[in-house]
Amino acid sequence: MLQDFLKQTAYRFGFSLRRMRGVKTRSGALGSASLGNDGEALLHAIHAVDPYAGFAYQTIPFEAQGWGSQSPAFGTLVARIRPHLIIEVGTWKGGSAMEMATHLERHALTASRILCIDTWLGALEMWGDHTEADRYGSLALKHGYPQLYYQFLANVCHQGLQPRIIPFPLPSVTAAQWLSLRGVRAELIYLDGSHEEEDVDADLTDYWDLLAPGGVIFGDDYAWTGVRMAVDRFTAEHRLHLEHLEDKWLLAKAD
Ligand SMILES: C[S@@+](CC[C@H](N)C(=O)[O-])C[C@H]1O[C@@H](n2cnc3c(N)ncnc32)[C@H](O)[C@@H]1O
Repeated sequence: MLQDFLKQTAYRFGFSLRRMRGVKTRSGALGSASLGNDGEALLHAIHAVDPYAGFAYQTIPFEAQGWGSQSPAFGTLVARIRPHLIIEVGTWKGGSAMEMATHLERHALTASRILCIDTWLGALEMWGDHTEADRYGSLALKHGYPQLYYQFLANVCHQGLQPRIIPFPLPSVTAAQWLSLRGVRAELIYLDGSHEEEDVDADLTDYWDLLAPGGVIFGDDYAWTGVRMAVDRFTAEHRLHLEHLEDKWLLAKAD
């Protein structure tokens, strides 16, 4: 009751929900069991039916064009953190997720999983220039709606990485709410979704809360103004130490 009153009063005075950290949406439908870093339980909590079941991936040739997805930083971080659960925000055709999955295999982290959060509808910059084959073209519009998700799914299948990779096709903010309500905590979180300042700010805030103690959150494209502004501000506000590893920025959470 008190929470509702505070929420309504704050709204009246112009505070956004995003700024009201700690006042959580109620959703009885999501249940109360805390999933922690259990990837298998997470898969079954998200998907009633295996998303790969019956998918005729052979009809879609492997094609995994991406950005920064072959970085040595992925291998370094997987070896250093040995995560049970990795969350990726911004998956596109699966390049970075498959790279991380390969490192999980290399280090015999057999129980570890990667949760891929993406709308598979593209980011702002992908809807700009119709002549850009790697961006607009890759959305693969069918009657005006992107089919990119199926290229991602096919790529994962071609690599035989289905047991490792869990798709979660939601906007990052909604996925974060779901994960927060289910008590999910990941040891490694890769942010590569929207590169607009407000969105990066929101993703950092939301996903920092989902990072396990001792974990690392990292991301791509620090050279982009929106990314740099949001990362620098978050680092300063939380009195953290910003590191750079290969082409990625990273922030570590204390134990
Ligand atoms: C730069 S691409 C990711 C590249 C990928 N990591 C790779 O290895 O190639 C950005 C992705 O973020 C997704 N995206 C952008 N904004 C998002 C949002 N608010 N929520 C979920 N996904 C988002 C887009 O659909 C796009 O697939």
